[in-house]
Amino acid sequence: MNTTAQEIDVNSEQQSPSVVIGAIPRISIQAFCVTPEMCDATQRAAIDRRLYKAHVNVQMGGIEKAIEVYKTTPTPNLLIVETNAPRDFVLAELNNLAQVCDAGTKVMVIGHINDVILYRELMNQGVSEYAVAPIGEVQLIEYIANLYGDPENSPVGRTYAFVGAKGGVGSSTISHNIGWAIAETFQEGVVVADFDVPFGTAGLNFNQDPPQGIAEALGAPDRLDAVMLDRLLTKCSEHLSLFASAGSLERQIDVEQNSVEKVIDTLKQSTPSVIIDLPHLWSPWVKHTLVTADEIIITAMPDLANLRNAKSIIDLLRSTRRNDVQPRLIINQVGTPKRPEISPEDFAKSLDLTPTLVLPFEPQIFGQAANNGQMINELRSNTKIAEGFQHLAQIVTNRASVEETKSSLLGPLLKKLRISKE
Ligand SMILES: Nc1ncnc2c1ncn2[C@@H]1O[C@H](COP(=O)(O)OP(=O)(O)OP(=O)(O)O)[C@@H](O)[C@H]1O
Ligand SMILES: [Mg+2]
Repeated sequence: MNTTAQEIDVNSEQQSPSVVIGAIPRISIQAFCVTPEMCDATQRAAIDRRLYKAHVNVQMGGIEKAIEVYKTTPTPNLLIVETNAPRDFVLAELNNLAQVCDAGTKVMVIGHINDVILYRELMNQGVSEYAVAPIGEVQLIEYIANLYGDPENSPVGRTYAFVGAKGGVGSSTISHNIGWAIAETFQEGVVVADFDVPFGTAGLNFNQDPPQGIAEALGAPDRLDAVMLDRLLTKCSEHLSLFASAGSLERQIDVEQNSVEKVIDTLKQSTPSVIIDLPHLWSPWVKHTLVTADEIIITAMPDLANLRNAKSIIDLLRSTRRNDVQPRLIINQVGTPKRPEISPEDFAKSLDLTPTLVLPFEPQIFGQAANNGQMINELRSNTKIAEGFQHLAQIVTNRASVEETKSSLLGPLLKKLRISKE
C-alpha cells in the first residue's frame, strides 16, 4: 500500500497552554476570600497540575478572619487575602495582620479597587503582590509562579508523555520518531526516556545496546544528579540521547512514583525536550506522569477496545487538566488488512477530539525501520508518514507557524480520509 496524502490527516487546531510554567514548589498556601468567585478560582487553581506539590487551603472571611486564625496558628509560606474594603481600612487591617504573620510568610492581597496609592503603600508594608479582582484561576497560578518561580533553577525542559490506548498500538515507535524529528529539525537536546523497564524497545529502535540506563536511575533515585545522568545516557546523535530500558528480566525493580518524578525532574533540568515513552499499564506512577506532563500524546488503533480505553484516559485528563491543551490523538495502523475497524471519523467523533495524525498500516516501512534500528525519517524521508512525524514534532513543540496551522486545517479533512482495504 502506498502512502498518499489522503491517508494522513494533520491537524493542529489546539492552542498552546496559557500558562507555560513549571510546578510550584512544595509550599503551603492559605487563602481567605470574601467573594465566592475568588474562593472558586482559588479552589480550581489548587487542583491544577502545577500546584500538585503545594498544599492549599481556602476559606472565607478575608483579612479579619486571617488575623483571628493566625493569633493561634503559624502562618503559611504564602497567605492570600481578599478584601473589598476602602484604602484606609485595608491598610489598617493589613497592619494588624502583620502583627500575627511569621517572618518568611509572603502576603498577596487581592483587592477590588485599582488604586496606585494603595498599591505603593502595600508594597511599602512588605506585601509581595497586590492584584485587582476579578482574578481567574490561570492568572492566580501565574501570580504564584512569579512569587515562587526561580528563574535560575527553573527547568529548561518540556515533557512529552506518550501512551498507547492498548498494548502494541505503536506508541513507542511514534515517540522515538518524534524525539528524533525534534532533535534533527530544531537542533536541540532531546532525551528519549524508555520507562518500559523489562520490555522497552528504544534501544533496539535506535540500534543501541547500552549496558546501563534508566533502571539504574530508578533503582537509586537519591543518588541521581547531573553527573550520574550523563553516565547513564547513551548518545545516539549530536542532539539525541537515550535513557534506555534494561530490556531484560534480570534486573527487577519496583518502579515508584517518587523515583520516576526524580528522573524526569533531573532530565528537565538540562534537556529542552524530554520524550517519556510509557508502557501500556495503569498504576499510580503512570497516572501521575501523564497528568503532570506538558504534552500528552495518545496513540490508538481504530477498534472498540482502543476507543473505550482512549476515552477513559481522555476523560481523566480533561477533568484533571482544565488549564492545559487537550491531549493529542494519533490514530495508527489504519487499514490493517482483513481487520474490521471503526472509521477514523467515527473514532474521533466519539472522543470529541480531532486527531493530530492518522497513520496508515505500513508493515513494510515500519518493519524495515525496526529491523535496521532506524527512524522512518532516516529510512524514507519523502513519505507522508515522515512528513506527518515532522509536523507532529512542530505542533507539540509549539513551532507550527500560523501559515502551517492554517493550511493544515484547510488540508485534507477527516471526512476525506478513505483507506482502501485489501
Ligand atoms: N503504522 C504502522 N504500520 C505498521 N506497523 C506499525 C505501525 N506503527 C507501529 N507499527 C509496529 O507495531 C509494533 C508495535 O509498536 P510499538 O512497540 O511502538 O507499540 P507500543 O504501543 O509501544 O507497544 P507496547 O504496548 O509493547 O509498549 C512495532 O513492530 C512497530 O514497528
Ligand atoms: Mg511501548
